[in-house]
Amino acid sequence: MRRGRASWTAEITAIYRAVEALRPADRRLVYDPHAHAFLRAHFRLLLKSPPLARAALWFWVERRFPGGYDSIVARIRCVDDCLQRALAQGIGQVVILGAGFDARAYRFQAQLSGARVFEADHPLTQRVKKRKVIRRFGRLPDHVTYVPIDFETESLDRLRRGGGYTAALQTLFIWEGVTKYLTSAAVSDVLGWISANSAPGSRVVFDYLLNAMLDGRWAEPHAQKILAYQRRKGEPYRFGVDAGELAAWLIGLGYSAVQRTTLDDLKRLYLQPLNRGKRLHTFYEIAEAMV
Ligand SMILES: C[S@@+](CC[C@H](N)C(=O)[O-])C[C@H]1O[C@@H](n2cnc3c(N)ncnc32)[C@H](O)[C@@H]1O
Repeated sequence: MRRGRASWTAEITAIYRAVEALRPADRRLVYDPHAHAFLRAHFRLLLKSPPLARAALWFWVERRFPGGYDSIVARIRCVDDCLQRALAQGIGQVVILGAGFDARAYRFQAQLSGARVFEADHPLTQRVKKRKVIRRFGRLPDHVTYVPIDFETESLDRLRRGGGYTAALQTLFIWEGVTKYLTSAAVSDVLGWISANSAPGSRVVFDYLLNAMLDGRWAEPHAQKILAYQRRKGEPYRFGVDAGELAAWLIGLGYSAVQRTTLDDLKRLYLQPLNRGKRLHTFYEIAEAMV
């Protein structure tokens, strides 16, 4: 996060969700009817013309970092499906870590039926989020608890203290688009806290960068451009995982049933049937694990 500022990357993923929402129902992977409400006025204006919005996205993102859009949208869909599975299995709480402008608490309100949602995010981003939620819905929804936290310096105990989180209920922890911005110590602390403080049957889903991308070994030239861009914009990538070590690392932190999903998996599952995903950022992966 840039010092003293809300996360701008939270707005980028909201832009992707807003643009995806412009597609016809049978051509889209994700439907977020609220995403546009979290954007600044000039982006909201662009969205009024779908061709212009798509052209702007191509100009600012796809032209420079080909495959970025489909990669992120497929990741969002994968996490949506994980949430729906967990809800169908009766989990009682959902904790969205580094929530940014994630609207799952509002998009899936009907399916949540009684499950409490916690949005834990950096206070600077969360302050902006709450303002925009109030503008969109008239007030903060009763089923969501907003917990300000800095993962680098504070413990997730904040969920309990004043947040109302209980370790007695099975919980899904969603940590999307966040680990790459943190130190390795902060990532391990959060994952360790979850496994030590949630009911058996709880689970976590998060995405991570591959170390080979982070340390410059990745073959695609735009991988290095992305690293340089993030540094320039003040939100540098810092954390990555060696895919071969994912399971051992998570088992060491108290998890079981570790599942690794690659971008090629997401392509087969979601993108190919829509004739999308010709280029992807394959240096991301998604992990799911059980407590
Ligand atoms: C790319 S955004 C992802 C937002 C959302 N999860 C999504 O997928 O749209 C990164 C999020 O991580 C949060 N974040 C970054 N560093 C953080 C920290 N040290 N403590 C808490 N949150 C942090 C930012 O506030 C932001 O909401």
